Amino acid sequence: MASSEQQTADPCVLVIFGATGDLTKRKLMPALYNLARSGLLPDNLAILAFARRVHTIENFRRDLTDAMQQFGPQPLDAGLWERIVARVTYLTGDYADPAAYATMRQVLEQSDAERGTRGNYLYYLATPPEVFAEVARQLSAAGLARGSQPFQGWRRIVVEKPFGHDLASARALDGELQAAFDESQIFRIDHYLGKETVQNVLVFRFANGIFEPIWNRRYIDHVQITAAESVGVEGRGGYYESAGALRDMIQNHLFQLLALVAMEPPISFDGDVIRDQKVRVLQAIKPMDDEEIIRRSVRGQYGPGVIGGTPVPAYRDEPSVGRDSPTETFAALKLNVENWRWADVPFYLRAGKRMARRETEIVIQFRRAPVLLFRSAGAASLQPNRLILRIQPDERIEVQFQAKRPGAIVRLAPAQMNFCYGDLGESVLSTGYETLLYDVMIGDSMLFHRADMVDAAWRVATPILDVWGALPPRDFPNYSAGSWGPAAADRLLERDRRVWQNPEQEQSPCDP
Ligand code: NDP
Ligand code: BG6
Repeated sequence: MASSEQQTADPCVLVIFGATGDLTKRKLMPALYNLARSGLLPDNLAILAFARRVHTIENFRRDLTDAMQQFGPQPLDAGLWERIVARVTYLTGDYADPAAYATMRQVLEQSDAERGTRGNYLYYLATPPEVFAEVARQLSAAGLARGSQPFQGWRRIVVEKPFGHDLASARALDGELQAAFDESQIFRIDHYLGKETVQNVLVFRFANGIFEPIWNRRYIDHVQITAAESVGVEGRGGYYESAGALRDMIQNHLFQLLALVAMEPPISFDGDVIRDQKVRVLQAIKPMDDEEIIRRSVRGQYGPGVIGGTPVPAYRDEPSVGRDSPTETFAALKLNVENWRWADVPFYLRAGKRMARRETEIVIQFRRAPVLLFRSAGAASLQPNRLILRIQPDERIEVQFQAKRPGAIVRLAPAQMNFCYGDLGESVLSTGYETLLYDVMIGDSMLFHRADMVDAAWRVATPILDVWGALPPRDFPNYSAGSWGPAAADRLLERDRRVWQNPEQEQSPCDP
């Protein structure tokens, strides 16, 4: 998250491994285009696309251009796009073939000499995760992992998700990466941290003086973090079958949101200072024994249903999904952060596919007023105060409170105050990858996972996955597509006399 001074990123070669894939077309190229439009890309940026498929440079560039028509902002500035695509070169090779890296080395050196890229190489692993360690090994063996003569330059590697599928595999991957690169060179990406409103959580908490005094167990009753998606697995059934909602969304994205909400104030805006505070939160999540895991976790899988008036199939009827798949498409957890600030304040997290609608939000629910003065004015139904940080699709912050209805008699009504993020300026076109790519190019690691954060997150998630693995679900599918998840998730909160905040379909106060 760069500071307020805008600067053009360093000259460099962006090497994309797996450049023929979906991520490159859908996110990376549109993000580069948006960065160029904002004037943040250096003139001497080169893009080296690497993959196994054979392409001529002409047909690869044509593929990228077609994809930009589909996934890029419209209308496209054709001149600008031409200038970007002209910087792309394509190299065919096998990810495990040393000869491919020897050729890559020549291409990179040529780029330094001809395009002024100064030995700065940004390797982006946009391949399936099975290939991550191999590429790191090969880059190291080819002498491409660290700066060398004539241009010392910097070398950075971006690692996509998923980062391991449990604690042991994440540690093994880390071992491989760290044998090739220093931790300071490794950027483990989490696209949630590239979202404007996620970054705004930090600013909201720490650029204002009024929230911090009440941001603790004395005033906060509990926190809910929801990432509901209305989409299903969208052709990624193969990947999703080996992941599930806990690995896909909670272990990474939702744990990051939790860390941002619960972290202590940092002493500076330095990347490692912020990450130190975040990792302490993850490390403070109370470990659960098997019994607690059963009581405090819920998993679900969607059956057929209707979303937005359209019938949608059950998860088990999606392409590349097993007919008796035990994979969860919904997960909910009750976690406790055991430190002085948060002891006894539950954090309820849930993520699900094919839910009633797309909504990512953080609800901070405050304790009730200590004295019920307005019992006769309908106080029994008084809603507690809530602060809601809406991440998407509606980008706003809402405060819910009670007010007096106009009239001679004291009658209470729930009221809201809203801040619409868009009011601060024209929304900037974003895939979520712009800030992240730019930050790697300027060497700012604040928005990236550090090894100890990944480790701490897997330490929480792995025992849950182990218990779930040992007890295959017997009731799947247990929620209808288009609902708010399984009934067991409601019971998780009802047992604590609480309820999920399921956002109503309403006209947003931020709509024009
Ligand atoms: P793809 O499945 O499209 O794979 C990318 C490229 O990798 C393919 O075009 C292929 O190129 C190469 N590849 C595929 N399978 C293998 C294999 N078994 N061994 C070696 N190379 C292979 O992936 P995506 O582009 O969708 O995603 C890339 C990475 O980004 C993944 O780690 C994914 O989890 C992550 N990601 C993707 C998102 C998205 O929106 N797509 C969102 C968030 C994360 P070739 O055969 O030409 O070498
Ligand atoms: C990805 C998950 O990390 O995040 C997907 O792999 C999910 O399954 C996506 O759909 C959600 O991202 P967003 O930005 O749409 O909330």
